[in-house]
Amino acid sequence: MAKILGIGNTVLDIILKTPHYPREDEELRANTRHFEVGGNVSNSLYVLSQLGHESSIMTTIGGDDSAKQLLNGLKSHQINTDHTQRFIQGQTPTSYIIQNAETGSRTITHYRDLPELSFDYFAKVEIENYDWLHFEGRNIENLTGMLNIAKTFLTHQPISLEIEKEREGIEALFPQANVLFFSHHYARQKGFDDGKALLEEIKMLAPESHLICTWGAQGAWFCQAGQEIQHQPIHSIPQTIDTLGAGDTFNAAVIDALSQNKPLSEAVEAGSKLAARKCQQQGLDNLLTEIKEKQPLANIKQLSNAKTMVVPCADLPHSVILIKHDTGIKAYENNCPHQDVPLNEAYKIDVNPFEKTMKCSVHDAFFNIEDGVCVEGPCMNDELVTVPIEIDDSGDIYLAT
Ligand code: FRU
Repeated sequence: MAKILGIGNTVLDIILKTPHYPREDEELRANTRHFEVGGNVSNSLYVLSQLGHESSIMTTIGGDDSAKQLLNGLKSHQINTDHTQRFIQGQTPTSYIIQNAETGSRTITHYRDLPELSFDYFAKVEIENYDWLHFEGRNIENLTGMLNIAKTFLTHQPISLEIEKEREGIEALFPQANVLFFSHHYARQKGFDDGKALLEEIKMLAPESHLICTWGAQGAWFCQAGQEIQHQPIHSIPQTIDTLGAGDTFNAAVIDALSQNKPLSEAVEAGSKLAARKCQQQGLDNLLTEIKEKQPLANIKQLSNAKTMVVPCADLPHSVILIKHDTGIKAYENNCPHQDVPLNEAYKIDVNPFEKTMKCSVHDAFFNIEDGVCVEGPCMNDELVTVPIEIDDSGDIYLAT
């Protein structure tokens, strides 16, 4: 398997799953909120490590607490973080992401206040130790020099470049990469209505590169260096759960196949298959396992004593509280009968392991973990709605049928 170095952003993704896409000025309650390590290259590297490669990132990191959180996240994704350029004055780049539970779409608002990776930092890294270099098409001023160095010092290692947005001067870099990934946003910015038209033009700028342009539901267009443009339709899926990182997953699967000397057509097919697989689940974990017909709520290994876990559930009006209890796993709808708010609305749900209760963070109603009955607080004797669950041999917890 290959040693792959990705050069790009590491981002803190704050993901709110909402029942629908909010209207302007609407006040909307999200079903769930979670934090993930994000950024295109970080996501692709996570998928590449699942595909069995040795992934390393070259990125910038801020001096705030979230930076530490991100580094730990990268490590837990089996991504080597030895090449991180730290900026004490900078803050962690953050994406605020609305995920529409109805469609699985993701809308990203990105905030950045961190210097870009410097040319000098890149120049000191021994890139010859890697089998593949994958760049994000940003930071053009420094990227130009980085690609020059890579072209000069690497003899047989492929270079790939992802072009997500139009940036001044980026076109001049195209011939430097062996594989170019274009997004449909870029194609649209350039005034093209499909990937084929874009690639016709790019072929002239970079005749020796493999070109790929992905276009959501319309599939992908691609062109092996110097050959005809071809089209790969999407793999249809029964339900779209989450599209965040689908493009990054596609890129990873293409790099994986090409690094094994497979033809571009096979690589693009593998990319679209894995991207489709990704869209059927939340997040990027365990992408190589079979999709189960039903999505588990969680696995018992994720539950710890005296702590609740709140998980989304597309089939119920509320998220679900899971907790390990003396008599087994308990599951309740995350909705306080007092004022119809999630129990973790104000803070986390505190558990008292001695009294065997858990507390709504909004108005301090205490509920028995055993039966969900309120034993103290503003909705005395009211009950949380029990969620029927079943657990399979692997410990996956499902909504009972
Ligand atoms: C998804 C993603 C997110 C990140 C954003 C950055 O492709 O990489 O993880 O926040 O895009 O543009």
